[in-house]
Amino acid sequence: MGVLAAAKQSMRRHNLFAFHEQYSLTIKYYFCGMETVVSGIRSTGHLHLGNYFGAIKNFVKMQHQHRCYFFIADYHSLTTHPTPEDLYRNVRQVLIEYLAAGIDPEVATLYVQSDVPEVAELYLLLNMNAYKGELERCTSFKDKVRTQPDNVNAGLLTYPVLMAADIIIHKATKVPVGKDQEQHLEMARTFANRFNRMYKTECFPPPYAYNFDEELVKVPGLDGSTKMGKSGAEGNAIFLADDPKTIRKKVMRATTDSGPAQPGEPVSPPVQNLFNLMGIVSSQETVAHFLDAYKQATIRYGDMKKQLAEDMIAFTAPLRERILALDADEEHLRKVARLGAEKARESARETIREIREIIGFSSAHTG
Ligand code: ADP
Ligand code: TRP
Repeated sequence: MGVLAAAKQSMRRHNLFAFHEQYSLTIKYYFCGMETVVSGIRSTGHLHLGNYFGAIKNFVKMQHQHRCYFFIADYHSLTTHPTPEDLYRNVRQVLIEYLAAGIDPEVATLYVQSDVPEVAELYLLLNMNAYKGELERCTSFKDKVRTQPDNVNAGLLTYPVLMAADIIIHKATKVPVGKDQEQHLEMARTFANRFNRMYKTECFPPPYAYNFDEELVKVPGLDGSTKMGKSGAEGNAIFLADDPKTIRKKVMRATTDSGPAQPGEPVSPPVQNLFNLMGIVSSQETVAHFLDAYKQATIRYGDMKKQLAEDMIAFTAPLRERILALDADEEHLRKVARLGAEKARESARETIREIREIIGFSSAHTG
């Protein structure tokens, strides 16, 4: 008996879940002991160091150990109403930068969210059990209501539902994301569990935010804010594609304070941000050197910034080189997107088929 046939027989015997011929993929991964990983980044511009250290670094590490699905969240980016040209350009850019960062499309499944319309169907279905009150309490929604009161659309309100659909369509259990996404993951678990309870099934395993057993990362901004982000103030973020001159300019303009007047003064939040950024791109000796200078009140922020800029340039230079090369390889980008869409749809279709049957749609029976 082949491995798959034996697996199927054993599953039937243990009644792990209602056996179905079509679930071959699920069965295969179940018995491989491989966990499923899903994560995405919105197509809203160039990727920055926050995206890299908060998310992509883990994607690259995880791709060889797990069954990984990484995608470009272009449906999500529609909440800000991009023009078709901007949308197209941004999706292409994130694809390039994912590849430049080291995601191997032959190993992981790398795809564009809108190439998998099954996600939109699951989103619709999950919306029936997502409540206005809980969605309105979501921190990211409340932030948007505050920052863009003229565009509080339903897509923003149901953003966590779409995100849950992205994750559970592949039955993922691990979701490598930055700290800012913790609450969204909590909601994804709520929606997955609620579906299971409602239909008395164990269809969806609960997904968790993941960072290799370490605290989730939050990379600070250069403008004194606690989060580096695309939507932050001008100069807040260092993009992977930034050239050395731009990086030097941004870092030299970073927010600091007037400096310690005497030894032993506490570090102010914007200066702490710079130390944290150094902790990410510089050597331990470099960080120790400047920390010591701070403690002695002999630090010169100009020197610290120069060093930080050079270390950021050294880190981003190889990425930038690959970004430029990929940008010129249209054929390769097309091939990657096509392959990713095929692989992602195979898994998504399987889940949709299963939940259509669970929900009771008649087409699930007629095929
Ligand atoms: P942005 O916040 O710049 O708009 P996204 O929201 O698309 O970027 O974030 C995509 C991924 O990058 C998410 O996993 C998010 O947690 C992570 N991320 C974004 N900014 C940071 C940051 N400053 N520190 C750590 N992770 C971050
Ligand atoms: N909401 C995430 C962000 O803004 C992007 C995202 C969309 C995502 N769907 C996801 C992340 C599914 C992880 C899993 O950063």
